Amino acid sequence: AATLREAAEATGRFMGTAIADGRLSDGTYTGIASSEFSSVTAENVMKWDAIQPSQGQYNFAAADRLMDFAAANDQQVWGHTLVWHSQLPSWVANGGFNADQLDQVIQDHINNVAGRYAGEIAYWDVVNEVFNDDGSLRQSVFLNTLGEDYIADAFHYAEAADPSAKLCINDYSTEHTGAKSDALYQRVSQLLSEGVPIDCVGFQSHLILDQYSASDIQANLQRFADLGLEVVITELDVRMDMPADQAKLDRQAQQYRDVIGACVAVTGCTGVTVWGFGDADSWVPGTFPGQGAALPWDDNYQPKPAYTGIMEGFGAS
Ligand code: G3I
Repeated sequence: AATLREAAEATGRFMGTAIADGRLSDGTYTGIASSEFSSVTAENVMKWDAIQPSQGQYNFAAADRLMDFAAANDQQVWGHTLVWHSQLPSWVANGGFNADQLDQVIQDHINNVAGRYAGEIAYWDVVNEVFNDDGSLRQSVFLNTLGEDYIADAFHYAEAADPSAKLCINDYSTEHTGAKSDALYQRVSQLLSEGVPIDCVGFQSHLILDQYSASDIQANLQRFADLGLEVVITELDVRMDMPADQAKLDRQAQQYRDVIGACVAVTGCTGVTVWGFGDADSWVPGTFPGQGAALPWDDNYQPKPAYTGIMEGFGAS
């Protein structure tokens, strides 16, 4: 295979990246984004604060740009995200809405956002990060005002707004087995038994160098796939303590290879998305000072050993 997207395609899977809107004017960036990936996720521009910053006022320009980029490059779009406690504008988070009002606010948001792109979005992260690390449901304006039914309701609203998109629940620290993954498993099983239109589970997979078990990830993906759902690695990166050195980069390559391999070993694992591709654009250094080098291309958009690791994970070289 000459590119990651070809290597993934040879296994029947997609290879995606998050796209930073501010980088779309850089030819080096867009060259890699268009040639190496078959799926794109908006890193920020489809989030609530970006797309409906005040009530009833929608900013679709940047999201439209991503849709156009994907169409021009024969890529699917992964919608991220409809209901999330973070990057939520204060008119929602602190709006003082009662339950009926907040339910309507959510329905309007989903109708307008998912409805605008109906038929053009392959997957939506309908709800994102609804769990605490101990597996309990996260406190948020949604949970506090509406109770846990907001999760099922969001899926029903998304189904109505875009019947053709696959609808997903997405979270972090769920790729290995454990309390949070167990809670997700129970929740998804319950939603399915209630007839909630859920199609897929997204495992963000913001990993730390040397901290993983590919066999455990594979077993975890498999148990969700056995529920009849698609499973997808949605935000993969592997951060390390800086500075990077050759030994760390080589272990990182192996980690990418092993995690991609875990997906490839599971029939229901249909794709992998990295959370950006060039280290200079990664969210990691800003959030974890002293850590970085988490992505498959370096600060100068040169491929790192991790690039080859991904290739090998898909069985290519
Ligand atoms: O757009 C404003 C800009 O106007 C302002 O000047 C600037 C100053 O700080 O901030 C800009 O907003 C930033 C935004 O990214 C766009 O660049 C926010 O501060 C910053 O917090 C935001 O960070 C994003 C983060 O989500 C927010 O929680 C990261 O780029 C993005 O990579 C990250 O992605 C999340 C996924 O959505 C969910 N899973 C975890 C993942 C990593 O945190």
